[in-house]
Amino acid sequence: MNDQEYAILKKRVLGMTGIDLDNYKSQQMRRRLTSFIENSSCDVIGYCRMIEKDEASLRKLCDFLTINVTEFYRDAWAFADLEKNILPGLLENRVHINVWSAGCSDGSEAYTIAMILLSLPRKVTFHILGTDMDELSLARARAGGPYKDDFLKSLPKHYLSKYFSCDKGRGEYWVNKDIKDRTTFKKHNLLADPFEKGFDLIACRNVTIYFTEEAKDALNRRFHESLKENGILFVGATEFMMNAMKCGYHKLGTCFYQKTVPSIARI
Ligand SMILES: C[S@@+](CC[C@H](N)C(=O)[O-])C[C@H]1O[C@@H](n2cnc3c(N)ncnc32)[C@H](O)[C@@H]1O
Repeated sequence: MNDQEYAILKKRVLGMTGIDLDNYKSQQMRRRLTSFIENSSCDVIGYCRMIEKDEASLRKLCDFLTINVTEFYRDAWAFADLEKNILPGLLENRVHINVWSAGCSDGSEAYTIAMILLSLPRKVTFHILGTDMDELSLARARAGGPYKDDFLKSLPKHYLSKYFSCDKGRGEYWVNKDIKDRTTFKKHNLLADPFEKGFDLIACRNVTIYFTEEAKDALNRRFHESLKENGILFVGATEFMMNAMKCGYHKLGTCFYQKTVPSIARI
């Protein structure tokens, strides 16, 4: 795909989906889109016409761009670290916490955090907001299922028996009302929409892989504004924040950054 074709495609995608491809690493995104469009047997201009007319093709493109692969308790060691080493400190002097699962896909991450919080010996009340820009994934999150057993393979067995009901015939699981009632799921684009504030814990994992460094940096700064004092940002296993100190964070563990500098002091 040449520069002109990519510019046309970017404009069309922004207009039709709200996804600004300028926030994604250009070379990687262009390579991925080139082979994706080749598979549809169109040239770029033909493809732009197709997504305008055909809703299913537009849906396919959105799925391709959002990559909504997820599972419960993804990277078990990171959730074990959250439970054993991060939450005890965070919950000191707190009786209620607000959590945001940003780029939550089908809710697996939000529900995993809910189960961990409910299982802690130190009882706290909590609310979890899950956001994503993919409506299909959000529909499953809001319904609390169905989740195939494949997506639950990393989840400790005691969570499965305690917090899910199972349709054995279909091999499908649904989270219990008790967990569902503590969550809200909303459509939200991290690269375009305003952010809510007042979170104690923000999980944004495996979402920014294709974002440019500038987009990631801006996002980390916006998360900083959304976190309360000493709040925690929980990132993916391979997501290292280069300029954590500049953004007002202190690294607490492989996947955890704590807001140390109050927002006002950085301005
Ligand atoms: C690979 S999944 C990760 C899900 C979950 N956080 C996890 O680690 O298992 C990435 C999710 O991020 C969402 N996403 C990507 N870009 C986004 C954006 N700009 N705003 C909101 N969600 C986005 C996708 O729709 C997708 O559901």
